[in-house]
Amino acid sequence: MSGIRTLIAGNWKSNKSAEEARAFVKALREGLKEKKRDEREIVVFPPFTSIPAVADELRNSEIGYGAQNVFWETAGAFTGEVSPVFLKELGCRYVIIGHSERRTLFGETDEICNRKMLSSLRTGLRPILCCGETWEQRREEKTFCIIGEQLNAGLHQVPFDAEFDIAYEPVWAIGSGKSATAEQIEVVHSYIHQWLQRKGFASRERVRVIYGGSVTPENVDRLIAVPDVDGVLVGRASLKLESFIRIVDFCCPGEKGASP
Ligand code: PGA
Repeated sequence: MSGIRTLIAGNWKSNKSAEEARAFVKALREGLKEKKRDEREIVVFPPFTSIPAVADELRNSEIGYGAQNVFWETAGAFTGEVSPVFLKELGCRYVIIGHSERRTLFGETDEICNRKMLSSLRTGLRPILCCGETWEQRREEKTFCIIGEQLNAGLHQVPFDAEFDIAYEPVWAIGSGKSATAEQIEVVHSYIHQWLQRKGFASRERVRVIYGGSVTPENVDRLIAVPDVDGVLVGRASLKLESFIRIVDFCCPGEKGASP
């Protein structure tokens, strides 16, 4: 389909066992079946072990699913790691790369994110590369510099016609209950879109820039309406059915999914 589809992504983090995940997506599918939502792309990100149950329950559904992390090698002696090939085999369309929790709690560097980007793309997964500044970096006016570095390193050698997404997730807004303001989001998203264009990455249809960090049913309409926001990455508010459905059904005057 032509035009940009607004991405609504639910990152469950380390929540929902296989059976809980199955029950959730079953109810989600049921809850969303009344309306057609061609301009919106809905994707959930269960923990690895819950992916098969979600895949089974979402067979022939418009709702997509992906993984929250991936390893860069496709096979070998790498205890505890999950190959992109295994994810692809489970029907994953997406993979999140470089979430700030992976960077801060598990020491993932930009170089690691880049390896994961390249191998995911080679395998046919669509990566969502996360970037964002800490509160301290923002205070020191280093936001653009940090994001520029994360993009530069994370997208090193990524082909210009590749299809992927960028999630702007200010670290201070994640899980804090306090999202960034519309003004703060607008300038960063515009910076990212310009950065991508300047480097030669194709069109907006191939690379969306989505926002994450304390997105809720209460603020989603306002956040999605911000220029240059092509979707949202939702943590906590994606865990409850009602709140996720409300987010999926965000109201946007002059639907963003229309062709630009
Ligand atoms: P949050 O998480 O919505 O709970 O702030 C967002 C994320 O970590 O992707």
